[in-house]
Amino acid sequence: MSLGQNLLRTASRNSHALVPRALYVESFWWSISLTSFVSSPRCRGRSITTAPLLDFAQRHVTKGLNHLTEDVMVKGEGSWVTMQSGRKLLDFTCGIGVTNLGHCHPKVSKAAADQCLNLVHGQCSIAYHEPYLRLIERLLPIMPHPSLDSFYFVNSGSEAVEGALKMVRGITRKQNIITMQGAYHGRTFGAMAITKSKTVYAHGFAPLMPGVVTAPFPYWHHFNAEPGVNETELVNASLYQVELLLSQQTAPTDTAAIIIEPVLGEGGYVPAPPAFLQGLRTICDKHGLLLIIDEVQSGFGRTGRMFSIEYSGVRPDIMVIAKGLANGFPLSAVVSTKELTDKLKPGTMGGTYAGNAVSCAAAIAVADAFKEENILDNVKARSTELFRELKALEADSTVGQHILEVRGQGLMVAVEFASPSHSTFDPVIKKDTTANLAMKVSKRCLEKGMLLLTTSVYETVRFIPPLNISAKDLARGIAIFKEAVEEVVGER
Ligand SMILES: Cc1ncc(COP(=O)(O)O)c(C=O)c1O
Repeated sequence: MSLGQNLLRTASRNSHALVPRALYVESFWWSISLTSFVSSPRCRGRSITTAPLLDFAQRHVTKGLNHLTEDVMVKGEGSWVTMQSGRKLLDFTCGIGVTNLGHCHPKVSKAAADQCLNLVHGQCSIAYHEPYLRLIERLLPIMPHPSLDSFYFVNSGSEAVEGALKMVRGITRKQNIITMQGAYHGRTFGAMAITKSKTVYAHGFAPLMPGVVTAPFPYWHHFNAEPGVNETELVNASLYQVELLLSQQTAPTDTAAIIIEPVLGEGGYVPAPPAFLQGLRTICDKHGLLLIIDEVQSGFGRTGRMFSIEYSGVRPDIMVIAKGLANGFPLSAVVSTKELTDKLKPGTMGGTYAGNAVSCAAAIAVADAFKEENILDNVKARSTELFRELKALEADSTVGQHILEVRGQGLMVAVEFASPSHSTFDPVIKKDTTANLAMKVSKRCLEKGMLLLTTSVYETVRFIPPLNISAKDLARGIAIFKEAVEEVVGER
């Protein structure tokens, strides 16, 4: 079957859905020209748009979203996604750290399908349902601290963050929250107020939730310093700033909690030094504050441990998890101690879809797969290979001068370029480096067949491949990235 016929068939199969009939005809003629374009030398290595569907999307999908590619995803399998254009792309984004066991992991998808035929919606305020409880049974032994023994499930990272904020205010009867410079916690109102990674997330949406104060995360940029700065000095300076906040801006008796991502995500994929997290724990204990650890992106094996907080040995009062938890099914959790959650009034938490049975069944299969498939061993092996290759690029005599830092934990890895962007005032930026390198490299990777995301206000790309990626696919992704960097840098 030709690509044109295929497209037409797909369109008719979905005819009850959103596509007007005229569009099918349009898509047929368009797909004929696409077929010849795909086989032309001009197309090779270029991104192709699926014009009619794209046109439809542009008319009917909100402008409030943006996209890495204008092509339309139709299938996901392991480390790969197939697009409507026929292109197969290596997925180094995992849907922003979600499909950590690869797309449509057979056991996870089967568990969800089986659950679909058993119980889909076991509403959490009506009754407990079995997958909810069985999931807690799986999660208890992998918690980073044995005190974390009380769970509730919701749907998204933001919703879980909101739940954590409500909890700390409700329990402590104090209002203020200390967040970190560069933090990302979500787009809903409370989460948005404590998000400090980019102004775009809150610009124009005021008034935000009040009572938020921001401390610098120990990232050299936040101190106008350079990569390689002494880590102990960075940690001490950051902890000093938190203490200063507590004596100048938010009295401990007004402060409910400190919230932190153990690896700054949208802020640039910067792991918090263990000493900083330990210092925050000490400050919280000293001043009677709760410590919320946001593991939405860094959790579930992403960093080489089940949870990144394990690298520091710090005990969270509350931990927020989502993304990899159910490998693509909407599910998040707020985990805390029974001692704390016993202080909550019944009915203050939850939500109509909270802890959906299908998502819980998928998450049980995820937890089982982690053990059965030795996922953490694969993360360690692939992480070593990824760092080795990226560090070699950083040391390269021509390309290396455009790279400021290679950093991360496990398979949550970033390359920061020395390229001017928003932060032209920054002393580490090299004026003779191509502008917007991160975005250009990401686009070039897409043209070459790989999805790779940027992050942060600094020129950074982030590697979030599946945790069970093969050595071969990882090597292929690294080769695409290297080629992309070499080409883009050479085009100055
Ligand atoms: C650390 C962190 N917290 C919270 C969120 C918000 O999660 P969601 O997009 O599911 O609402 C994200 C999303 O990227 C995140 O990375």
